[in-house]
Amino acid sequence: MSKKYVGIDIGGTSLKAGVVDETGTLLSAAKTPLQFTTPEAFVETLAGLSRQAAEAAGIGAEEICAVGMGVPGEVDTEHGTILYTCNIPLADLPVGALFRRYLDVPVYLENDANCAALAEYWAGAGKGCHSLIVVTLGTGVGAGIVLGGKLLRGINGTAGEAGHMVVEPDGVPCTCGRRGCWEQYASANALKRITREAMERCPDSALWVHCAGKLEQISGRSAFQVARECGDETAQAVCRSYVRYLALGVVNLINLFQPDVLCIGGGVSNEADEALLHPLQRIVQQERFGHDPRRTAKVVKAELGNDAGLIGAALLGRMETK
Ligand code: BGC
Repeated sequence: MSKKYVGIDIGGTSLKAGVVDETGTLLSAAKTPLQFTTPEAFVETLAGLSRQAAEAAGIGAEEICAVGMGVPGEVDTEHGTILYTCNIPLADLPVGALFRRYLDVPVYLENDANCAALAEYWAGAGKGCHSLIVVTLGTGVGAGIVLGGKLLRGINGTAGEAGHMVVEPDGVPCTCGRRGCWEQYASANALKRITREAMERCPDSALWVHCAGKLEQISGRSAFQVARECGDETAQAVCRSYVRYLALGVVNLINLFQPDVLCIGGGVSNEADEALLHPLQRIVQQERFGHDPRRTAKVVKAELGNDAGLIGAALLGRMETK
């Protein structure tokens, strides 16, 4: 019988857990909004979600071989500790040890975008290729880099923190403490901010109707939806600006690593190809270094979509306990 692993994705707005088998297939998933009370309650929620996912997959908790967690920040893989996350209030949390009080299985930690990269490399858009970069567009912007089958971790595991490359000196303040980070222009949160600013400048935009006159109702999808459905110029300008900044970082990553494949994942990557992927590919083609079309990175969508992080987290358990 195929072994089963639980993957947990700690996101900026929700917590997800899923059971994955040895082939990387997601068998079940459970989700709950992210809430903070105490570290213990947070970890208890993670354990509860894991049990829920196991139940939904028709297995008992004792059949879970290992649990892997994708964390939106810096982790100490050796001690199972979350060291620092800039978009949610987690720091110095020995999550592995706490988790085992509820569910006594081996627990492995990794950065969330690194998890997504592992998943795409082994079971998604990067299957069979030499090198792959995944860029995740959610609450923050993350990147995971796999070169020749090996995850690039750097001296402290934080290699690939591409969301915190500065793309605008003295730009928008970032939660990491710097200004002008890529994440402040290419994340879902950034998209909301750019949309809000555009609406404040343009009181006649159809975006106002879409949001029922309330700025709080803007979502990361508003601009793309209104651009598509109403052809609204303000919404279109927001989308153009967003894709422009997205491309800027993507081209920088391609020029640095020249991977076989660069894929974009996370919530924003669900937008229609005509609005997001195709204009991104056009800019990349114009601006990247390396002009031999037969030997340039393919820019695609993450094949595992928003489940990449979850699947990759579960694969950590498979890699470690095999
Ligand atoms: C964090 C990364 C994370 C990314 C996506 C960034 O703000 O620094 O570690 O991968 O958000 O969650």
